[in-house]
Amino acid sequence: MTTSTLDSLTAHDTADMLGAIATLPSQLADGLARARVLREELTAAWPAEGGATPRTLVVCGMGGSGVGSDLLPAAADVAAPIVAVKGYDLPGWVSDEDRVICVSYSGLTAETLSCFRQAIQKSIVHAVITTGGELAELARAEGVPVVELPGGMQPRAAVGVIFAALTGVAETLNVVADADHVVRDAIAGATLVVEENTAGDEPAALGFARQLHDHVVVIYGSGQTEAIAHRWKAQVNENGKVPCFANAYPELDHNEIVGWEYARATGAKWALVELLPFAASDAIRARFDITRRLISDVVGTDLRFEPSSTTRAGAAFEQLVWGDYVSVYLALVRGIDPSPVERIQSLKGELAGR
Ligand code: PA5
Repeated sequence: MTTSTLDSLTAHDTADMLGAIATLPSQLADGLARARVLREELTAAWPAEGGATPRTLVVCGMGGSGVGSDLLPAAADVAAPIVAVKGYDLPGWVSDEDRVICVSYSGLTAETLSCFRQAIQKSIVHAVITTGGELAELARAEGVPVVELPGGMQPRAAVGVIFAALTGVAETLNVVADADHVVRDAIAGATLVVEENTAGDEPAALGFARQLHDHVVVIYGSGQTEAIAHRWKAQVNENGKVPCFANAYPELDHNEIVGWEYARATGAKWALVELLPFAASDAIRARFDITRRLISDVVGTDLRFEPSSTTRAGAAFEQLVWGDYVSVYLALVRGIDPSPVERIQSLKGELAGR
């Protein structure tokens, strides 16, 4: 492909989503630095002797802001369960044995604000992570530390800075032992894929997007890559603006595998993306192989991503960044702009007007 062909595709990327993906390595460093600014304050708020952790770390956030809560246990060894809350209410069992972090890029998301208010009633908010908005105002009024995110991005494009800020805050609760280490590994994994897709006129991700174009894409992960599969799905939805579904082994072999029997009759073209986990066990690898064979009669395109990184955080970000690039090129091969998410904005507007 010539440079001018690539240029004519990327001309649709008016807000430079491709450029934002290329900043992920530097975002990761920046996010940790932003959490570290508050390290003393946050450590003072959790003066646990001997490295004690809260019973659970509850992370509230929606969409692009919620992805950090899934990624953290996928990319790092965590010393307490991470409970992702993606809704209006904290679980009833949450008490002063737990700690809550609220993440909203805009600081305006209704569900996250609702959880913040509930957590403040229980005096268990450890920090908020946001660019501003009502969430920052409420937090400051309550004396809750605010990790400030850089503005001007789509929330989903800020995944590096959000993840690293969350990792840094989790370290102050002893939930992550060494945030520097995790973020360094994540940077290495992200960098591999950024370099592979920014050198030359034929980015590999564009080739993958061409293969997935015009298909309903199903993403399968397992263990660590369950969270990455859901990130891919959300990116294909929001950037590519096409239906996409995600699931994980081994559970999908106990239900979804049967549903494929009807796939051909839907008339859709189906594509499978397989995200092999870091250090996959023989049992899990066998499930990927056998299931792929069993559904091969209906799957038109099959792409398998196996990480080359040798660390958990590196592998997580390596596979995540592939999904970010492929999803953006999926939009560009259709001649549409990956950045706007008009349906999300109009839905939020309609709900706010009620
Ligand atoms: O990518 C998006 O725009 C959405 O998924 C948002 O992240 C989601 O609607 C939540 O908004 P915010 O990230 O501002 O809290």
